[in-house]
Amino acid sequence: MSSLFDFENKTGRYTVMGNPINHSKSPFIHTCFAKQTNQNIEYTATQVDPGGFEQAVGNFQASGGKGLNITVPFKQEAWGLVDERSPRADIAGAVNTILFKPDNTLLGDNTDGVGLVRDLINNHQCGIENKRLLVLGAGGAVRGVLLPLLEQNPALITIANRTIDKAHILAQLYKQHGNILGSHYTDLAGQKFDLIINGTSASLNDQLPPLPDNILMENAWCYDMMYAKDPTVFLRWGIKQKATNTIDGLGMLVEQAAESFYLWRGVRPDTQEVIKAVREQM
Ligand code: ATR
Repeated sequence: MSSLFDFENKTGRYTVMGNPINHSKSPFIHTCFAKQTNQNIEYTATQVDPGGFEQAVGNFQASGGKGLNITVPFKQEAWGLVDERSPRADIAGAVNTILFKPDNTLLGDNTDGVGLVRDLINNHQCGIENKRLLVLGAGGAVRGVLLPLLEQNPALITIANRTIDKAHILAQLYKQHGNILGSHYTDLAGQKFDLIINGTSASLNDQLPPLPDNILMENAWCYDMMYAKDPTVFLRWGIKQKATNTIDGLGMLVEQAAESFYLWRGVRPDTQEVIKAVREQM
């Protein structure tokens, strides 16, 4: 009987496709996972030109590839390309992992949200259940994580975005899965949150979303989905606002990779030592 997993003793070939791709840490992370779990895989990075994604996936499959990761700017296109999607990828409108099934059809998943949740809960012991969450941003990065966050039963998720319509559209889309609403940044004043997750791209430009002061509960957490060698401007804001814990998204990066690896290989790597290794490289 054919299996989803490649248990033959052949090298399983995987890649990450994106543009740009040369700074991707995925080849390093998956190579660490493979060594650790004795899996025979090769994982490369593939730069794809705009308009060339579908062809690149077809070529990789035809050449014997087993699956791939997808990063900016092709996650939405990947969603449209696959034959079948996991529920979390379906609602996110974005696919970051493809598995080529034995019948040559493409299964699409999105492992970003589970990566974030595992980093928060398993690596940092940050509870989500019954907590008041504030999620900053309403773009692709946020869409990818809302369902796994809501599955942890927070008391509330407030989505704040500069362009308020996008926050309301997301709240509407996800409201069947939990208590979620959209908000202007200015309306946050006077409210209190246990955990603020920055899913905007502002940190990339060293910018801070327009957050009012004093919106953190006691023992609050600030999590930036971006990561950098030094604390991001959002995490520096959290420290000033007396957050008890400030965390960047490096653990999420490794955890989402681990979930892809599990989908492809049926084996769960130990992420702790790989998070440490990636941190040491920075
Ligand atoms: P991604 O795929 O990384 O989410 P995106 O879809 O372009 O990228 O979304 C970027 C998000 O960051 C948006 O929510 C954007 O807010 P707007 O929708 O109002 O544009 C948010 N963003 C970017 N720079 C920001 C800044 N300086 N302050 C606040 N929000 C910012």
